[in-house]
Amino acid sequence: MRLAPALLLLALALPGRAASDAALVVHADQTGPVINRNLYGQFSEHLGRGIYEGIWVGPDSPIPNTRGIRNDVLAALRALHLPVLRWPGGCFADEYHWRNGIGPRANRPAMINTHWGGVVEDNAFGTHEFMDLVDLLGCDAYICGNVGSGSVQEMMEWVEYLTSDADSPLTRLRRANGRAEPWRVKYFGVGNESWGCGGAMTPEYYADNFRRYNTFIKNYDPHRPIERIACGAAGDDYHWTEVLMQRAADRMTGLSLHFYTLPSGDWGKPKGPATGFDEAAWFATLRGTLYMDELVTRHSVIMDRYDPARRVGLIVDEWGTWYDPEPGSRPGFLYQQNTLRDAVVAALNLHIFQQHADRVRMANIAQTVNVLQAMILTDGEKMLLTPTYHVFEMFKVHQGATAVPLTLTTPEYRLGDHAIPAVSASASRDAAGRLHLSLVNTNPHAPVEVGCRLAGPHAAQVSGRILTAATMDAHNTFAAPNAVHPAEFSAARLQGDQLGVILPPMSVVMLEL
Ligand code: AHR
Repeated sequence: MRLAPALLLLALALPGRAASDAALVVHADQTGPVINRNLYGQFSEHLGRGIYEGIWVGPDSPIPNTRGIRNDVLAALRALHLPVLRWPGGCFADEYHWRNGIGPRANRPAMINTHWGGVVEDNAFGTHEFMDLVDLLGCDAYICGNVGSGSVQEMMEWVEYLTSDADSPLTRLRRANGRAEPWRVKYFGVGNESWGCGGAMTPEYYADNFRRYNTFIKNYDPHRPIERIACGAAGDDYHWTEVLMQRAADRMTGLSLHFYTLPSGDWGKPKGPATGFDEAAWFATLRGTLYMDELVTRHSVIMDRYDPARRVGLIVDEWGTWYDPEPGSRPGFLYQQNTLRDAVVAALNLHIFQQHADRVRMANIAQTVNVLQAMILTDGEKMLLTPTYHVFEMFKVHQGATAVPLTLTTPEYRLGDHAIPAVSASASRDAAGRLHLSLVNTNPHAPVEVGCRLAGPHAAQVSGRILTAATMDAHNTFAAPNAVHPAEFSAARLQGDQLGVILPPMSVVMLEL
């Protein structure tokens, strides 16, 4: 579709000539599902410098902290309106024994973190510290229990210790450890990657184990039952979803899905560096990210057969980019830089989750600080916000808003034999009636002119912010922490029900109407 002549003139008056155009109808007269806030959830594991140094520095640290939790990271995460945090793993969860992480820290037994660098874990950050963190963040707790190497009794007792108000030996222990009131644990995961690091189980065996462990997760507060999340598939393992839904759907509130974006798309091949990559890697990473849409669609189709009312949520509780670790860092620590490419990956994934908001109820990017596609990187007392952080901050207006349907016609961004859509878009209306439209241009060379028609209530004004940079691997460093930062966006013009937008190459834009 070409732009209406008046709008075209308007668009051409904007800086930069667009190489191609896209057409978008914003059906503001229609409503889609509510975008669950939890799509903006996060995941923090005992892995590398994710918890230790990244979040927990201890109360005696010279780094300013609140009861051991660093204040700069707390403030940065609060600004994201973080809705839910998953902990303690990941693969670590199926080796974690919660009793080692309570009581006086000096007396806590240590263990070896066999998955992540073989380091000694001293259990300084345990149940009380995590629940303090979620209280300080004002978010919900999503605790992942140990099925792989833990007993039913151990899991049952953890839930009692956390959430019971009775006068029992366990709740007396909790009180002796400084917490009188039970905590609210809204989400409890029954094992992690039980098909792999969580026990190498078959789906049939896991489904039986899910039923068994789940039976002993008691709702001590009947008014606030715990939402139970079953371990779901790795990527395209549709058989896993089929078996879990067939055998246990009635006992779960969520079924998880894990999918990481690897530039090569193949765990057997080198992943490639986080910075200093070429256009082929940029393209492959974005193309690989878009595969999330097929995964979510196909898992949802299976879930629909067993749960047509869509009571069970699809919980994408691990997603994000996974590159080679930074040179010089410990390989098992999964520390990687974060560039404009990661910002675009984040925006594309969040758009996909929002498009499937009727089934996808939670997503948790891996991971919050210093691990994989992090929001925040730290170096001793220094901290920086990554391009991915800025996307989460710009997109927070979508949290809890009502999705607005879109019809998008987009040019392709082509490289070699493959093509992906140049434009991705998502819109929502918030409680105050404001419309938010987020747009992505995946093409690193060409701007895209987007001609939008706003169907329904008229908008009076438009404002916006943009995240972009001059190079594909632009990133923030401790020496230059604001190299990639949102800026005011002025290349959007509103005229009646027509909105013209020029998206610069490789950009993420958030408009408010
Ligand atoms: O996020 C890193 C690891 O990736 C998690 O521990 C595991 O669940 C997944 O394989």
